[in-house]
Amino acid sequence: MDYFIELYGSLPRAGPGDDASTRRAFEMMTALPSAPIILDIGCGPGRQTIELLRLSRGRVTALDLLPRMMERVREAAEQAGLADRLETVLMDMNDMEFEPSSFDIVWSEGAIYFLGFEKGLRKVKEYVKPGGYVAVSEAVWLRPDPPREVLDFWKDYPEIDTVERKLEIVEQIGYERVGHFTLPASSWTELYYDPMAERIAQLEGEWKGIPEAKDVLAEARNEISVFQRFSSWFSYAFFVLRKPEEPSGGE
Ligand SMILES: C[S@@+](CC[C@H](N)C(=O)[O-])C[C@H]1O[C@@H](n2cnc3c(N)ncnc32)[C@H](O)[C@@H]1O
Repeated sequence: MDYFIELYGSLPRAGPGDDASTRRAFEMMTALPSAPIILDIGCGPGRQTIELLRLSRGRVTALDLLPRMMERVREAAEQAGLADRLETVLMDMNDMEFEPSSFDIVWSEGAIYFLGFEKGLRKVKEYVKPGGYVAVSEAVWLRPDPPREVLDFWKDYPEIDTVERKLEIVEQIGYERVGHFTLPASSWTELYYDPMAERIAQLEGEWKGIPEAKDVLAEARNEISVFQRFSSWFSYAFFVLRKPEEPSGGE
């Protein structure tokens, strides 16, 4: 058993986020066709995928590496009566290839970092139609000089940076800035850390005596604890970007 997937794959979301933030980012896209074609990269269990299907009258292609996530997003769409506008793609995002200019929106909540923020935004720009949008949520520093424990926690993710620096990067790539906002603390807890803490409590009994499982649970507990103690230092920010109608000089 993959204990990590068993734990993280059972939660309502596989990362911070909430429906109101998905809606807020979507509503910043004021120049969409009536039925936009959307790519949702690293869809996870698909909470935002379902919200996008509800918000738009368009079609969503939900892409993830894990079969478990594909099953969950399909089930959720069927339950919501929205499955006829959903396509699922089981694929490593590093290998994805789509026709140039094939999407009105490329969306990725808490997952573009698997490609790298900068590299990922460069890659998906090709897939978006001129005048189309890209929306990603990404880890950011909220304050300078984080304590050592926070730096240690984020050490495997060197691209975490300030919102200002992220905005510089998106401009260098040649996107127009449409808007950005920081996720509220509740979007880390309500659909992610609170259910995770409940699941940990259940699994502690079930997985007793399995060293590998114990490590996964300890790491998850530590993740929650770092957030509880240091959430004023970091969060995710949502960035809504637009590919210019005409080439703008960015590569
Ligand atoms: C932090 S979760 C976010 C999931 C979802 N967007 C959400 O906000 O709940 C990241 C997702 O990206 C997927 N993922 C990780 N590496 C990937 C890769 N190389 N290609 C495609 N999906 C990947 C994981 O399986 C997981 O579902």
